[in-house]
Amino acid sequence: MPIAKKTKTFYITTPIYYVNAAPHIGHAYTTVAADILARWKKLEREEYFFLTGTDEHGLKIQKKAEEAGKNPQQFVDEISDGFKILWKKLNIDYSNFIRTSDLFHKKAVQSALRVLWDRKAIYKGSYEGLYCVGCEQFKMETDLVNGKCPDHNTAPEHLKEECYLLKMAEMQGALVKKIETDEFCIAPNKYKIEILSFLKKQKLKDISISRKNVSWGIPLPFDTVHTTYVWVDAFLNYLTGIGWEGNPDKISSQWPPEVQLIGKDILRVHATIWPVILMHLGIDLPKKLFTHGHILAGGKKMSKTLGNTIAVDEMIKKFGADATRYLLMSAGTFGEDVDLTMERAAGKYEANLANGLGNLVARSLAMAEKIKTESGKWKVESGTQKSKMEIDIENYWKKYEEAINNYKLNEAMNEIWKFISACDEYIEENKPWKLEGNEKEEAIYNLLESLRHIAWMLRPFMPETSDKIFSQLFADEKERAVELSKVLNEAQKWGGMKIGAKIKKGENLFPRL
Ligand code: MSP
Repeated sequence: MPIAKKTKTFYITTPIYYVNAAPHIGHAYTTVAADILARWKKLEREEYFFLTGTDEHGLKIQKKAEEAGKNPQQFVDEISDGFKILWKKLNIDYSNFIRTSDLFHKKAVQSALRVLWDRKAIYKGSYEGLYCVGCEQFKMETDLVNGKCPDHNTAPEHLKEECYLLKMAEMQGALVKKIETDEFCIAPNKYKIEILSFLKKQKLKDISISRKNVSWGIPLPFDTVHTTYVWVDAFLNYLTGIGWEGNPDKISSQWPPEVQLIGKDILRVHATIWPVILMHLGIDLPKKLFTHGHILAGGKKMSKTLGNTIAVDEMIKKFGADATRYLLMSAGTFGEDVDLTMERAAGKYEANLANGLGNLVARSLAMAEKIKTESGKWKVESGTQKSKMEIDIENYWKKYEEAINNYKLNEAMNEIWKFISACDEYIEENKPWKLEGNEKEEAIYNLLESLRHIAWMLRPFMPETSDKIFSQLFADEKERAVELSKVLNEAQKWGGMKIGAKIKKGENLFPRL
């Protein structure tokens, strides 16, 4: 368990993923986005804590383990490992990976439930309703389309059982106020509107927080015949993942999360059950819930029956990890539904990565190498005077930062690619290979210095590519270390390329498919 730090950190979370099946592209989408934001904070030299993990209890998983003929723990161990392996392949630099079957988590959940019970936020009763196992949620008639859950396309089961319930309605007024004032900010705004209108239309029903017939779960501390409802168990990961032991008076200074990334299908539970649990516990709400849309394939929901699913592993195999990160996050506006097909991804790979970025780096380094001295140093003595590129770069940085700080990840990347196009135009206009002497050196300086900025901008999005560009621009390890130790606003200044630095053209960044 990582030790909770003393200073306020930028705390960011992803949902914890169900381990009923191997990880899919939707999981990768949220996790890559969180990784980008965490790496951006790292670049800004802010303390950050990035939590992800797996949601391992409940009926859905219990059933899958039974089907596979495995004991549930063995079953979840294997699938949870699959997530870790995928995150490694995608260069996801999380601070902690929480598993809800961890003993530490289970004990903390029991302590928290004991507190809620002692405070009379929980009472014994019974619940009757329509339960969708896919969602692990009770559904209202109005949630269904032709009697089926629209997310899982299955009819929910009718369930009636003795259970423990959490008082919801008594917190409703206070919750609405926190959402309205953005103390608990729901972004983008359309989701805030959606939740407020939902909360204003009806009184929240108390929810069942226990299951009698699900053995694969955390036993209630005050009635071990029942296990904890999987969503309650899961929400508490956001606290136990930073070392919380279940005592509301002892909470690490990392709390509350600056932002929790979630998909739109799990917004309502995150905007109702989750804050109500926290309010009963007397713990501050997260500052922001940022909701993203779904990845569609050719305009349709991805599904095995339609055969239009895109496997992340296949993308990584075909394009590489960084390109996959790029292709996922450039598929559209973060917050809206986005569309992805393998054909379109391949086209974008060729145009923007192999041709755009890859070609610019290769061409610029090839030109620079032609004026290299025997010692491998880059023979350029001029080039620090103000150039058009220098003036432009400030503007690109400004827009890039504005976008990333507002979770507009796609727009931030667009700024990088606009700058890449500007560099290509610069080459076409100036034809450095035709220039001589100082003029030639200056043109090449401008290009290499531009690449240095591009490498910095790429850092949160495509960390391996950024490293590869830096190794070409700063072939000397010590010089590279000096560059990489710069604080961001120093790195953003024009003129960071050292005249006479050692350069080395590398392999093509993005081989053609
Ligand atoms: N275990 C719960 C979350 C508990 S958090 C306290 C869960 N798990 S999940 O594995 O089903 O889904 C996790 C996330 O993946 C959700 O945010 C969901 O929106 C996201 N995605 C699932 N399919 C998706 C796409 N096709 N596109 C983008 N994200 C989608 O829910």
